[in-house]
Amino acid sequence: MNINKFKLEEYLSQYEFTSPYLLCSSDAESFSMHEILSLADKEDKDLWENLRLGYTETYGLPKLRKQIATSLFPSLSDNNILCFAGAEEGIFASLYALCQPEDHAIILTPCYQSLLEVPKLKGADVTEVPLKEENQWRINLEDIQKSIKKNTKWVIINFPHNPTGQVISEEELKSLTHLCDKHGLWLFSDEVYRLLGTPSDGWAKPAAETYSKAISLGVTSKAFGLAGLRVGWIACQDTQMLQQIKQMKDYLSICNSAPAEIISLIALKNKDFILKRNNQILDDNLLLLDQFMLKYQEKFRWVRPQGGCVGFVEYKSTESVDHFSARLVKEKGVLLLPASNYDYNKNYFRIGFGRKNMPEALHRLEEFIQSNC
Ligand SMILES: Cc1ncc(COP(=O)(O)O)c(C=O)c1O
Repeated sequence: MNINKFKLEEYLSQYEFTSPYLLCSSDAESFSMHEILSLADKEDKDLWENLRLGYTETYGLPKLRKQIATSLFPSLSDNNILCFAGAEEGIFASLYALCQPEDHAIILTPCYQSLLEVPKLKGADVTEVPLKEENQWRINLEDIQKSIKKNTKWVIINFPHNPTGQVISEEELKSLTHLCDKHGLWLFSDEVYRLLGTPSDGWAKPAAETYSKAISLGVTSKAFGLAGLRVGWIACQDTQMLQQIKQMKDYLSICNSAPAEIISLIALKNKDFILKRNNQILDDNLLLLDQFMLKYQEKFRWVRPQGGCVGFVEYKSTESVDHFSARLVKEKGVLLLPASNYDYNKNYFRIGFGRKNMPEALHRLEEFIQSNC
């Protein structure tokens, strides 16, 4: 197997657990076990206390699948849900099972590397369609249309987008699914940041509800701030497709962690409470970032994110972002994510604003700029 290194994950594992101020995290502030368990109703408390730690069902705990459908895909049912160990396994299992060497896949970039890497690993022909800042990093259907070939089978998107924080509107999604339908294409829609933030046009529906040949990917990690659970899911109207993907899961995790399934169930039942807390942290942090961007507009520039908890910032300097970030983390313990980790060769970095200690991290960044730049 010849797979490229996952640059972003390698970079994060080098710093994530040693740098005190993560100013590039892509998840919301986490919760303690105690906090989540205190939200449980009587039925789920009993489930938790009497849980037996054997294997669980490969598709996922039936109650959890039902809750995912009810909470996030109301027009679908539990039969349309397949659970995974995180979103990452969902990406690998889906794209490895379904992309074939003779297929062509179109993917919007910059992107979370596995979305690009797994189809390549399978031997598929991949065309990267760059999102452009002059288009506010939004999807451009013409660019996608121009890239369609006779053997195109997949369009792979991620909105809210990592790293720009831009979203897809209901109209844009409908136009995209119309285009996919016209050419018989499947749509893989990574929606792991959905419901985090407040997009000005509201949220588009999940792709899997909108289009019969779409797969929507979700997870507890990002909007819910529960990455340690490693519980993700895909939703798809086509249950035969799910079955093919499930066959790949048999070679990976086989089933989810039993305790994590129950905690995920409790979290999803309390979705509104959890999202309200996380979105409040995010809104407060965004206001501080607005002020920061205005104050330092000579040095930095961004398109204000609409969804998720990351944004893509240009560093307007002759110094490379990689150098700047290395100095910053060494002197102030503040971690940024240089765009080179996305194989993006312009002077940008990802900033994250989902965490409670973001104000302090930003303050330290400001001190650093004032004394060093
Ligand atoms: C767009 C995107 N998809 C998938 C993932 C993987 O999520 P998880 O860590 O929950 O498996 C990430 C993580 O950063 C991501 O940004």
